[in-house]
Amino acid sequence: MTALDSSFKAPDNPNTANIVLGIETSCDETAAAVVSGPCDVLSSVISSQVDLHARYGGVVPEIASRAHVEMLTPVVAQAVIEAGLGNHEVEAVAATAGPGLVGALLVGVSAAKSLALVWDVPFVAVNHLEAHLYSSFLEEPDLELPVVVLLVSGGHTLLVLMEEFGRYRLIGQTLDDAAGEAFDKVARFMDLGYPGGPVIDRLSMTGDPEAVAFPRPMHNDGYDFSFSGLKTAVVNYVRSRSDFDVADVAASFQEAVVDVLVHKAGKAARELGAKGLCLAGGVAANSSLRERILDACVASGISGFLPSRSMCTDNAAMVAAAGWQRLRLDGPSPLDTGADPNLPLPFDT
Ligand code: KG4
Ligand code: ZN
Repeated sequence: MTALDSSFKAPDNPNTANIVLGIETSCDETAAAVVSGPCDVLSSVISSQVDLHARYGGVVPEIASRAHVEMLTPVVAQAVIEAGLGNHEVEAVAATAGPGLVGALLVGVSAAKSLALVWDVPFVAVNHLEAHLYSSFLEEPDLELPVVVLLVSGGHTLLVLMEEFGRYRLIGQTLDDAAGEAFDKVARFMDLGYPGGPVIDRLSMTGDPEAVAFPRPMHNDGYDFSFSGLKTAVVNYVRSRSDFDVADVAASFQEAVVDVLVHKAGKAARELGAKGLCLAGGVAANSSLRERILDACVASGISGFLPSRSMCTDNAAMVAAAGWQRLRLDGPSPLDTGADPNLPLPFDT
């Protein structure tokens, strides 16, 4: 890492920092990135812990926290070096403060506050969900607002109308399991490995999506989602048969999830007069979802934007981008800000 120099002074106006270091440790990725201005990514480094958790079939919080402690310093150092920054050119440090695993969050928040103190620059606490909303803008800065964002991850499934930067309206959310959670649970039940989403995505390419008519929960029922019954339908189907084609079951399950997501996201974008529809979150890496959402956008004459797969899953560039906006809107966060595992996304009512 670049040497520390306590003589460095923050910009006069603490709300105008341009070069933001982002830190992400909310779950099982240790990530750091440097972003210049609202969306110019100078570096983005991600160290995944997936191999550490795979044998347990899910993220083990204690293992995640320890791995973040080990990996964060080299990951931050690499991000600063790859950004080509000289000493002390970071003008603010942003870190995910929630929602997420509390021990994991604390590692990133503590590190970010320490760096901000030593470098004498502002610290910004970032909401992980808000950060996901910015991933599309990092790759497509000219996206016109308002946009509907379908945020589908391991912990959340939200439909959000982004009216302005910092102003969001909640349109719908899951009433039980998140979409990614359903992928992970179905994969675990069928012994396919962890994380389940990418495995089911791959398997589905060789399966028949119409082989099994799984339910489309709440398909015509407002903007909320429910995936727990669909997961149970898959479990019941598998249990009731001695032989079945795993790829067909995977493809049929994926098709049911994607049908509901695409239907509701497209409907929301049309009915709310959005100029565009974006995907965010780990499930946004799903091949079928990506293809079908673009088809739906073309059919409705709405512009669709899909962040690259590495920008969909957890990364720190989106944290730096959200930090840049939060600093501009609210100023720095106090240094006694803690980690909040249930931090809600602030919605306009
Ligand atoms: O956003 P993310 O990286 O972490 C959270 O904040 O949750 O999302 C992780 C989730 C996991 O449930 C994983 O199975 C799912 O995203 N996922 C996928 C795919 N890649 C990751 N789900 C479906 N298809 C994929 N290709
Ligand atoms: Zn996430």
